Amino acid sequence: MNIVLGVGGGIAAYKAAELARALMERGFAVQTVMTAAAQQFITPLTFAALTGRKVITGLFDGQTADSVLASSVEHIRAAQENQTLLVAPATADLLAKFANGIADDFLSTLYLAFTGTVILAPAMNTQMWLHPAVRANVDKLRARGNHIIDPDSGLLACGTTGPGRLPDPAYIAAETSRITAIRRDFEGETVVITAGPTQEPIDPVRYVSNRSSGKMGFAVAAAAAQRGARVILVAGPVNLATPPGVTRVDVESAVQMRDAVMAHLPEASIVIKAAAVADYTVENPPDQKIKKTMAKMSIDLSPTPDILAEVGRNKGTRILVGFAAETQNLVSEARRKMETKNCDMVAGNLVSQAGIGFGSDENEMILVPRTGEPVKLAQAPKPVIANQILDHVLKIRLAVRSGG
Ligand code: CTP
Repeated sequence: MNIVLGVGGGIAAYKAAELARALMERGFAVQTVMTAAAQQFITPLTFAALTGRKVITGLFDGQTADSVLASSVEHIRAAQENQTLLVAPATADLLAKFANGIADDFLSTLYLAFTGTVILAPAMNTQMWLHPAVRANVDKLRARGNHIIDPDSGLLACGTTGPGRLPDPAYIAAETSRITAIRRDFEGETVVITAGPTQEPIDPVRYVSNRSSGKMGFAVAAAAAQRGARVILVAGPVNLATPPGVTRVDVESAVQMRDAVMAHLPEASIVIKAAAVADYTVENPPDQKIKKTMAKMSIDLSPTPDILAEVGRNKGTRILVGFAAETQNLVSEARRKMETKNCDMVAGNLVSQAGIGFGSDENEMILVPRTGEPVKLAQAPKPVIANQILDHVLKIRLAVRSGG
């Protein structure tokens, strides 16, 4: 597996050389990126000699963040999502840049361009580590889904004792292996996932639709495939790339989505209905474009088939997860949908809140399972939420298997 090792400018930078070695022993191909400050503590030559790769030292040494990512993908032929950025030591300065989106050198620019797993191992003086500004930045990064390897307590280079010391390189390497190990816990499952909106034609050039971007459903599909499932993604009209290893079936209308889902239902062991299906469709849309001849016009709409309810009626032993996009009464609405549509769990989100839900890259959800209390998932990038949803699906699977 490919890993980018970002080295920040702290006294612990010397330990990063040993870390590079420990990572290689664990099978990682290491690309080192050093900040200007890091080069005051240790030379790029050390890392180049250890890793066998040219070290990236600045924004202007001929490489861009995109080219590093692109060439790494090419080298290991793995999906970008499977890559890892490990920053050790992560100084207070780097944490502040990452938390606030400042991109003024190669490492901070790479951080913003990076879509894979991010692991940060902070190291600094105890007073700095405990400062509210640093605490706030660390909380922000953690909430964003970055993994933080907390510093050790002990005697620091500055002579004080307390938390702030970079943990042993062997420990950081072991933690990195653990975090990046791809869980294959969906092996043997076939998951049918719906995503995106549907479009209901008014005439050949117009349609009724909604604001769903499909990002949440695509993130669930990507995560399920990564975790070993066979994934059939029934996608409404969205502008998103098919995740690696996923079989995609493109549809437009609710009726087409229903047909695609029902056609694949016999193979499915899990059905996750993230799509925002139009509840109404236009009755008998004309074959020709409607002309602007009327002073006022109205369109008759008739209900679409409720796909989730139909799957619920034919559920068998499958696990069925519905979604509820609400502007109010989230938990009670999610519970009502779970009962009426025979789901095992409903994932609810408040779509009226800025920054989460439709179209955004982050989400905040409440999972309402059939048995047990609702679980709140804190705001996080959709891929993080996707994996949390899958973790809960597995819990249901285990409970079903053990007869609970
Ligand atoms: N759904 C579906 N078919 C439909 C409408 C909705 O399969 N025709 C599914 C969605 O994919 C989602 C769940 O039902 O998983 C809830 O969708 P939502 O639109 O929130 O619920 P509705 O049942 O349409 O209820 P309401 O519009 O009254 O909130």
